Amino acid sequence: MDKIAEIRQRCMQALAECEKVSLLQELKVRFLGKVGEVTSLLKSIKDLPQEERPSFGAKVNQLRNLLEDAFAQRQQTLSETEIKNKLQKEKVDVSLTAVSPWGALHPVTLIENKISSLLVSMGFEVIAGPEIETDYYNFQALNIPQDHPARDMQDTFYITDSILLRTQTSAMQARLMEKKQPPIKMICPGKVFRSDSDSSHSPVFHQIEGLVVDENITLCDLKGTLEYLAKNLFGKETKVRFRPSYFPFTEPSVEVDLTCSNCGGKGCSLCKGTGWIEVLGAGMVNPAVLENCGIDSEKYTGYAFGWGMDRIAMIKYGIPDIRLFYENDQRFLKQFE
Ligand code: DAH
Repeated sequence: MDKIAEIRQRCMQALAECEKVSLLQELKVRFLGKVGEVTSLLKSIKDLPQEERPSFGAKVNQLRNLLEDAFAQRQQTLSETEIKNKLQKEKVDVSLTAVSPWGALHPVTLIENKISSLLVSMGFEVIAGPEIETDYYNFQALNIPQDHPARDMQDTFYITDSILLRTQTSAMQARLMEKKQPPIKMICPGKVFRSDSDSSHSPVFHQIEGLVVDENITLCDLKGTLEYLAKNLFGKETKVRFRPSYFPFTEPSVEVDLTCSNCGGKGCSLCKGTGWIEVLGAGMVNPAVLENCGIDSEKYTGYAFGWGMDRIAMIKYGIPDIRLFYENDQRFLKQFE
């Protein structure tokens, strides 16, 4: 009986002194485990005289129950304190501003955001479309049938005969016009893909498509819009020039040049001495495209344009090689923080 009291006393003291949940388990094994002190007491019953066994057994069981409760209680107190301490220690004050920024926008994203927000301020709606596209929307609906030589202008990644990685955001023109009657005033920024790679071509690059269809839309509306964009992007003195060109989905079609932002039009290495830099393709939406999409080409006219964002970013930031945009070298990207 003395032994029972002694074990009880020792165990309760050890429990009170134990400050860690992880140490508690060891302690429990020592007292209540298979070869623990309390269990050994139970085993020692057989050495007692017959008449003492029942009351001794009852006492040991009492002790075991008492200690089990005490362990459970201590376990709870300790884990609550541990959690509380941990929360205290790892507390994050979300009201504090970060000491240093953890990232930056990619230069192409910066340009895309800038051009998009200028166009949004002019009332354009922003839409997005699929990067995996059908041959129909990427080509046929845009007046480029199978075997049309204009397909050679764009080296296409085909997935099947009729599914491809879109080569131009122009694909969204037809998708939108099929669903919506004029007035239409949309832009579609996004990734496009072509099998081409050198210092000015990347297999993936970025375009912004613009499309306006309504009554009485003319080439002057296109020129005014592009002039506004050019002046906001490259400075008030920037001039815009249209050169005749050819795209199957516009008639007439133009290539659009801006005065070189580097030399102001005098001629330098960036503009190869011409004073002008070609930045985008555009034109009046070909009536055939309007009709393909169920829009009355007698009543409505429209203009469209497609800009390469990467090219604008290269000009704006003086970047000589388009591949720098896709290598994700931190030393390059950090310059745009
Ligand atoms: N989709 C043409 C390209 O990627 C660019 C383009 C030209 C878009 C004329 C247009 C446009 O909307 O009207 O080369």
